[in-house]
Amino acid sequence: MSKKKALTVRVLLSEQEIANRVAKLGQEITEKYADLGEPLILIGILKGSVIFLSDLCRAISLPVELEFMGVSSYGDETESSGVVQITQDLTRPIKGRHIILVEDIVDTGLTAKYLLKHFRSSEPASVAMCALLEKPGKSQGHILIDFLGFSIPDDFVVGYGLDFAGLYRNLPHVGIVETAD
Ligand code: IMP
Repeated sequence: MSKKKALTVRVLLSEQEIANRVAKLGQEITEKYADLGEPLILIGILKGSVIFLSDLCRAISLPVELEFMGVSSYGDETESSGVVQITQDLTRPIKGRHIILVEDIVDTGLTAKYLLKHFRSSEPASVAMCALLEKPGKSQGHILIDFLGFSIPDDFVVGYGLDFAGLYRNLPHVGIVETAD
């Protein structure tokens, strides 16, 4: 599919539905880490989780630090290559810290599986996983998602951070790509 062709996008999750769920996830995280006594580190995966992370961190009533990790696994294609490459690493050590990996979507789970293993090798005090979306049928790695927004059907989705060929991240909703004429 080419970047130049227009897509038809059908709303799957409205802006309001997402806002409600993100507020709940923020509450769940706040409750779970209430007694931490030190800042939690939220690690967002570029670029897809940026919009979700920016809303999620403001729904958490605890001290948090933000870190970002750049990975590349898809290019402009809609199928996972299965190869995860780190294009930007963390700027601070996570040894002994409590971290939450924040993903836009868990599809095959290969990216999350790779990153969780990568983070664990740095010996953080705890590692949790938060994902806005998951496609349950596709998971290859039995990833335990501690904080999940929505389970969705196995369709390619865009919006609220998720892209197709770099576009559509700024849609306020999540939509299913129906056609690419
Ligand atoms: P996984 O390694 O197959 O779980 O893929 C994870 C990454 O693939 C996500 O962080 C997204 O960047 C991308 N991805 C997977 N499914 C979709 C989709 O439906 N729309 C947009 N990006 C997707």
